[in-house]
Amino acid sequence: MKVITDAGNLKGVRVIVRASLNVPVRDGVVQNAFRLKGALPTLRYLHERGAKIIIIGHIGRDKNETLKPVLEELQKHLPVHWGGDVTTPDFTKKAEQLIEGECLLAENLRQDEREAGNDYSFAKLLAAHGDMYVNDAFDNIHREHASMVTLPTLLPAFAGLNLAKEVAELRKVMVPTSPSLFLLGGAKFETKIPLVEKYLALYDHVFIGGALMNDVFKARGFEVGTSLVSDVSLVGAAFLNSPKLLLPVDVVVTGPMGTQIKMPHQVAPDEKMLDCGPATVAMLAPHIRDAKTVLWNGPFGNYEAGFVESTETTAKLLADAKAFSVVGGGDTVAAIEKLGLNSALGFVSTGGGAMLTLLEHGSTLALDRLG
Ligand code: 3PG
Repeated sequence: MKVITDAGNLKGVRVIVRASLNVPVRDGVVQNAFRLKGALPTLRYLHERGAKIIIIGHIGRDKNETLKPVLEELQKHLPVHWGGDVTTPDFTKKAEQLIEGECLLAENLRQDEREAGNDYSFAKLLAAHGDMYVNDAFDNIHREHASMVTLPTLLPAFAGLNLAKEVAELRKVMVPTSPSLFLLGGAKFETKIPLVEKYLALYDHVFIGGALMNDVFKARGFEVGTSLVSDVSLVGAAFLNSPKLLLPVDVVVTGPMGTQIKMPHQVAPDEKMLDCGPATVAMLAPHIRDAKTVLWNGPFGNYEAGFVESTETTAKLLADAKAFSVVGGGDTVAAIEKLGLNSALGFVSTGGGAMLTLLEHGSTLALDRLG
């Protein structure tokens, strides 16, 4: 991959930066700026070298979502102006007025359907604003959208500092040092079967928690009550018999009797599994302590609903361990941020689905475009 540090003289050069701006917002205020912090090194690098910086990105999936709260966050660190709709003459005028070192933030690209539709005319329109393209949106490398995969074919294209670091760190854990442990939580098993199969072959142990465990217990014939299950059945899946597979030994359920800790086979039809229990974390503890490589994506419980215990206890164990650790996924990273553990871990990824896609496939079209 060509990285922005290979780009030569940047003074006065119009650089389009496809950044990771998809952050949670409530009442117009950014709730977690972790991804935006990741965007700063590239923006600062360009700012210090006198580039004219056009920042583009997306936020959310609702077409009405705006990047204005992100503008306020970025303005705390850099001279950033609001550009508005990237397709308008007004945006073009503001872009032309930029002075060296200044940034212009475009409105949410996904407000225009041509972004997600990977429309060539939209990419052409974006390209007209720059002399050079930098992709720093690691979180979005699994999306074949206009600003990710077509725009880089129209301008000299480079990886940003965050994206380059993400790829380098994740490629390290694709060749793990033994003893190695892969911790996988979250939901949607239908998207994770090849990943689990691949990492059962690569790693010494793979632990499955979060809502994913519900599918495994269901496939084993256990009652899963009203727990969240995937669209896919795992009955007969060969990987379930792997001796490397670690599963929760106790679960937190809610039901008519309130919140209880039970063994996985004891769940009643009117109960819902929402977290892994303490015995499960105790079972994981020696694996985490002894591991040389730990890779973790996805919370072990319904984090947003407040079932944080197993995820947070595991994060603390990992922070105290000697392993090289790579952690990613929105709620997993939220737990790590809340506990202030970032610096105690090897690497914390800004990617969720992007991280899983890279781990599964080793590359994506958006990354290949930077080669
Ligand atoms: C993410 O948060 O995973 C990326 O920004 C991609 O967003 P998306 O899942 O809405 O495409």
